[in-house]
Amino acid sequence: MTTCYTPDEYKNFQKFLEDACGIVLGENKHYLVSSRLNRLMRESQIDSLQSLVDALSKLGATGLRTKVVEAMTTNETLWFRDTYPFEVLSKVIFEEYKKERKSALRIWSAACSSGQEPYSISMIADEYAMHNPGFQLEVVATDISQSILNDAKEAKYDALALARGLSEERKRRYFSAIGNEWQVNAKIRSRVSFRENNLLQNYAPLGKFDVIFCRNVLIYFSAESKSDILNRMAKSLNPRGFLILGASESIAQYCDAFEMVRASAGVVYRLKPAY
Ligand SMILES: C[S@@+](CC[C@H](N)C(=O)[O-])C[C@H]1O[C@@H](n2cnc3c(N)ncnc32)[C@H](O)[C@@H]1O
Repeated sequence: MTTCYTPDEYKNFQKFLEDACGIVLGENKHYLVSSRLNRLMRESQIDSLQSLVDALSKLGATGLRTKVVEAMTTNETLWFRDTYPFEVLSKVIFEEYKKERKSALRIWSAACSSGQEPYSISMIADEYAMHNPGFQLEVVATDISQSILNDAKEAKYDALALARGLSEERKRRYFSAIGNEWQVNAKIRSRVSFRENNLLQNYAPLGKFDVIFCRNVLIYFSAESKSDILNRMAKSLNPRGFLILGASESIAQYCDAFEMVRASAGVVYRLKPAY
């Protein structure tokens, strides 16, 4: 079914997806459309890409829109992804706030997928608090997908997911076995709250943050969306707040609110004093 469509039908689907969640589907991504939508279209008895676009444009198609966005997004994630952001967090950022005598921080994990990023942040906070009594941290973790957020809230992971990026020591310290799965302990979970948020929409209800993790999601967006998101994230940070992007991502051409901070472990960004 989905391999048989005209260039215009593909364009209409590209427009739906970018308007709905910011993802720019490249010209070479036809295989993604067929591999990710075939089953959903079969189950919904939709037999062509144009019929899907037509159905998506109808009032009341919220459920279908959600399913299509969820099918087209990539949830790839792991514990302590790239290592350095978590080292910079405790060795540079937490220390910086300690000097400023600020001991209760708020961190936003934007596009948190199944929870490995916000729970890794909470584990780092736990380890930091062992040597810094009184240190407090709240993590607000958001994603566009309610179903991935439900998984994240449950905080249960199978052996395969657990093996990716987690040391044996942290596994022992922060997880409890439940059947064939491991659940993140209550103390680590208690610092993290999950909320649905589309990065194309308003951030004001989330409040202000000291640090934003926005990792491995902007790569899917247009330059215009990246610029809009980064400029609005700058407004969601407290003065001199920090922004941590994915390892291969940079902001230079999209937003001038930030300056680069080169730590020995890696690069993060910080709001310029004027912002
Ligand atoms: C590749 S994962 C990144 C997870 C984590 N930040 C990391 O670096 O490991 C990308 C996540 O972005 C989410 N996402 C995609 N478009 C989004 C949007 N417009 N608003 C919020 N989240 C979005 C997806 O649902 C997915 O969970």
